[in-house]
Amino acid sequence: MPGDDGYFDERVAARYDESSADMFDPAVVDPVLDFLVELAGDGRALELGIGTGRIALPLARRGVPVHGIELSKAMASKLRAKPGGEDIGVTIGDFATTTVNGTFSLAYLVFNTILNLTTQAAQVACFRNVAAHLEPGGCFVIEVGIPELQRLPPGETFRVFHASVSRWGIDEYDVANQGLISHHFEIVDGRLERNSVPFRYTWPSELDLMAQLAGMSLRERWSGWKREPFTSDSRNHVSVWEKLRD
Ligand SMILES: C[S@@+](CC[C@H](N)C(=O)[O-])C[C@H]1O[C@@H](n2cnc3c(N)ncnc32)[C@H](O)[C@@H]1O
Repeated sequence: MPGDDGYFDERVAARYDESSADMFDPAVVDPVLDFLVELAGDGRALELGIGTGRIALPLARRGVPVHGIELSKAMASKLRAKPGGEDIGVTIGDFATTTVNGTFSLAYLVFNTILNLTTQAAQVACFRNVAAHLEPGGCFVIEVGIPELQRLPPGETFRVFHASVSRWGIDEYDVANQGLISHHFEIVDGRLERNSVPFRYTWPSELDLMAQLAGMSLRERWSGWKREPFTSDSRNHVSVWEKLRD
């Protein structure tokens, strides 16, 4: 069972940047920044699950004031230890319910992190929490994968999503409950380490309904940060909901 830091404890935080190195590549990060800078305008941004600052730090360097909510003290301390990290406020808590001072023109939740909330009630609460922090007309951005059920043969519950010399990933589906456990196996210093993280997968339409419940409506949906069209073949979506004006 996870401790207070959730699934991103000291051990995971110590290796997070290295094990997600491809996600720190400027070719991946820069389009995210371009997208978010434009939406933030002159306002402040709130990152849910800010982690070690992969997006928040370069976004702040682009002139957007960023505040984060983060469950894991271990991840937040990695952020603080980086250049510029001390200047970014982080509130420790669950982003479904934790409140922070002030309002924001932009809130964002990237890298599939909405799925870390493992019940529908928690995901709905997250949308409501975001709406309470947004200015009217403010935007909420989510980047998340489309559930890969079309790749799951009938009757099967396991799907390999990564296999290399020293790292393997297997998703275990619980279709009746929209549940998914991602099992990660990695050889570290000659030993096999396992990390199994539960998720609740969601469909774009379900997220739209959560937004509607929270007083927001869909403004844009793309399959990537460069505003690639969203189609039946898309494996990810970047969606933007706008808080309705009274
Ligand atoms: C996949 S990492 C993404 C970190 C960062 N946003 C990035 O793009 O690199 C997910 C982060 O969300 C945090 N997290 C997961 N569930 C959370 C929750 N319910 N409340 C607050 N933070 C949470 C984790 O501790 C972790 O730092």
